[in-house]
This record gives sequence, C-alpha cells and structure tokens, in this order.
Amino acid sequence: MEFSTKAGTPDRIKSGCVVVGVYADRKLTPAASLVDVASNGAIAAAGRRGDLPSKRGGVLMMSGVTGIAAERVLIVGLGKQEELKAKGVAEAVRAAVKALGASGASSALFTLADVSLPDLSTVDVVRVVVLAAREAVFRSDELKSQKDEDGTLARIVFPVEKAQASSIAGAIASGVALANGCDLTKRLGNLPPNICTPSYLASTAKQIAKEWDLKVEVLERKQMEQLRMGSFLAVSQSSAEPPKLIVLSYSGGKAKDAPVVLVGKGITFDTGGISLKPGDAMDEMKYDMCGAGSVLGTLRAVAELGLKINVVGIVPTCENMPGGDATRPGDIVTSMSGQTIEVLNTDAEGRLILCDALTYAERFKPAAVIDIATLTGACVIALGHVNSGLFSTDDELAGELLAASKTSGDAAWRMPVEDDYQEQLKSNFADMANIGGRPGGSITAACFLSRYTKNYRWAHLDIAGTAWKSGVAKGATGRPVPLLTAFLEARAQ
Ligand code: BES
Ligand code: MN
Ligand code: ZN
Repeated sequence: MEFSTKAGTPDRIKSGCVVVGVYADRKLTPAASLVDVASNGAIAAAGRRGDLPSKRGGVLMMSGVTGIAAERVLIVGLGKQEELKAKGVAEAVRAAVKALGASGASSALFTLADVSLPDLSTVDVVRVVVLAAREAVFRSDELKSQKDEDGTLARIVFPVEKAQASSIAGAIASGVALANGCDLTKRLGNLPPNICTPSYLASTAKQIAKEWDLKVEVLERKQMEQLRMGSFLAVSQSSAEPPKLIVLSYSGGKAKDAPVVLVGKGITFDTGGISLKPGDAMDEMKYDMCGAGSVLGTLRAVAELGLKINVVGIVPTCENMPGGDATRPGDIVTSMSGQTIEVLNTDAEGRLILCDALTYAERFKPAAVIDIATLTGACVIALGHVNSGLFSTDDELAGELLAASKTSGDAAWRMPVEDDYQEQLKSNFADMANIGGRPGGSITAACFLSRYTKNYRWAHLDIAGTAWKSGVAKGATGRPVPLLTAFLEARAQ
C-alpha cells in the first residue's frame, strides 16, 4: 500500500473516492463539511434520510454526488466527538479500508486525519491513520495457494495545504517505517515453527543487516559453550534445530553513546520439554518467539526512521523439545553468570535462555536493557490481553516505558518486582530454582531475571497476553514494537 500527499482541498482533488468522517448526531468533520457545501448539501440530505453512520466504524458509500471532483464519497462514522481518541480513529480507518477494498476501489483520498484530538497534532494523527491502514491490509497468506481477494486498495492520498506538505510527508514516512517493523514482527510470529526456526530468525537478522546497513553476528553452539551459557544450552539440548544467539546492532548515535539493548525471547516452539504441555492450542506455542520478532521488527523500524541512537538487539533462540537427551526436572545447570539453577520445570524455559543473554548484554555497557518475552501464562491471568506486563526495579526507566506506552497506544501496566517474592525461588540444592509456584507467577519470573541484571538499568516486558490473538482472529499483533519504537524515539531526541 502506497501513501502520498496532494495539495488542495478534499472537494477539489480528483479521485475515485473521497473518505470523510462524521460524528454521532450527524455532526460533520471539517472535510465532510467542505464536501457537503460543494455538493449542495448531499451529506446533510443523507443525514435527514437517516442514512449517516451513527456508530464508530459504520460506513455509507455514496455515488452520483455532484459538485465535487471525486467520483464517490465514503462516509465513515467516528462515534461521539468527545469520546474520540487515537484508537477510535484507527478503528474508523480500518473500517474505511475494508469498505474500500470490498468496493473495488484502488485508490482513495483520505481526510480522516482532520479530526482534532486533545493530545495529538495532525502529524500524529496522520501516523495513526497510516498504521491503521497498513494493519487493515496485512495478511499472512504467503503459504496459501489462493490469496484472499479482499484487498484491492493500493493507494491512500492525503489532501494537504502547501505549508503542511513536508511535515505530513514526514509523518507518512515514519508511520510506514513503524508499520514495516510491525509487519515483520507479525510475519515472523505467524510463520509456522517448521519454517521459522532459530536458523530462519538468524538469516532474517542477516537480511535486515544487509538491507539497512546494520552489524550482525550470529553465535553458534560452540561459541555459546565457550561462553559457558549452560542455562541456554540446557533448553536447546534435545532439539534437532541448532540454537543461535543473534546480535544485531544499529548505530545511529555517536560512537561513545551507550546503547539501549533489547533482548528478545526466541523459543521458536515451546512444547514444555519433559514437563510437556497439554495438547490444547499447543500450536500457539509457535508464538513463543514473539519477543525475538519484536526485537528484529523494532530494529528494522528504528533503522528506517534513522533514529539518532545506538541500539543492540540480542536474540537467544532455540526450540524447547522433549527427547532422550532432554533436560530433566531436577537437573542443575550453571548459567554464564556462574549462578546455578535447579530446573524444577522444563516448561519455565524462557527465563533459562534469557538469563544467559542478559549476562551477555553486560559487554555492551548498556544505557539500559529491556527484555521482551512471552514469559508466563500467569501474566495473561493477571492482565489479560490488554496490557503487557512491565517489570522494573528502576522507576525512571519504568516511567519512560509507560510514557511511550501512552504515546503509542500500545498499553502496558507496571507490576511489582520486590525482594519478598524472591523467597519463592529458593532451592535446597542450587542457587535458585527456575520456578516459584503458582502465586504471582509472572512476578517470580521477573524476580528470576532480576538476579542477572544487577549491573545495569533493566526492565522486562511480559507479552504473553499481547503478542498474538487466538480464535478466529488468530495472528500476531506486532506488539510491543510501537511501544519500543516510541521509547527509543523519545530517547533519541
Ligand atoms: N511460553 C510459555 C508462557 C506462555 C504460556 C505464554 C501460555 C503464553 C501462553 C512459558 O515458557 C511457560 O511455559 N511458562 C510456564 C511457567 C511455569 C512452568 C512456571 C507457564 O506460564 O505455565
Ligand atoms: Mn514454556
Ligand atoms: Zn515458553
């Protein structure tokens, strides 16, 4: 899908279809008013007939409207004006794109960015529109013989005043960069686990590096053995797929600037290992690499945005499989940090690969380290599918991430990481156990990670409930790429 700007007003620019918004109670947006006046009251007349969409996301396609340059008018409901926020604009945009696709339109003039929202500038809204439109046309159909034929809309044009043209074009470019990052994350998440293997993630990282001029290094098992990553390797040990430790670096800042390090859990399939998971919806454990996918997607977005910041992405990636040489419950492993871990449940594998990657992160002398992981079912119980769990011992870093969550609309909620929970990780035979029982399961997982992050500022995002959707709408969401990108953008200022 292409986006562009055209100088002029919505009533005078030629197009196959002009898209305008109306609020509840027949209240028109500025663009809808312009079209209405130019067409001698065509929209108001539709309102009197009771045809205007009153609900947000409702649509009315009108043809034969005279007095304007567009062949058709698509009217989109925005709901109550005082209740409209960025999320609502995105909802209306998705509805419009769907209706346009169904109507066979190949291009449309979009005026939905002319709504005025309390905290957002027009430039911000344009970015919201671009992201929502890209979301509406996203498909994971590369493995289908017959593609779904519901997306013919190929171009969206924004009408602009001359003075605004370059700032709107900038907003489009940044929206596209973010959408490209999200799409990569979604695509990787949705790919099946027999294709999206650790090696596949490594070659994807190499591709990104080549295309965007980043530095990439992929450590193999041998190197991980030399680094004494006994915890990570214990998870991988029964898999036929070799483990990889991917290090992808973007240098947009000064050479001396300490990097932000992003660490993403990359379990390309989580069977649970010997502590085998039940069969229900086990296919969804292909999404257990969504943390890794979000790190790669964020680096891609950051590179395309050209942010003035240094970012290092670290992705420990392997499968968690049962087998004759698998790690057993009761095995004690030694992590790269030297701390020993009693593996009481092989299904708590995410923390076992992350702890070694977090120790490895120390060598970059990071400004901050954020790990992103589909870490615990307990986080889904605590926060559902709305908020990602944010855990940090650093109030300032947590504040920055929560602020980024607000500006991006990518919700996160802070959870505690307190020493009182650490007791649940006590082992009689090793420095710690890898599980802390059912109470506060997402918190004890974060507490486990905190034992490996003492030497830098650290935050942890548990995205088990937000990285993908189940059911008929099954698919990766691309979260938390918007949050991470907003965080890095704010830091790059
Ligand atoms: N990848 C899972 C967490 C998960 C489960 C995410 C379901 C999304 C949906 C993780 O590796 C895991 O299995 N965690 C266990 C930990 C437990 C054994 C302490 C869990 O959450 O049950
Ligand atoms: Mn698991
Ligand atoms: Zn897992």
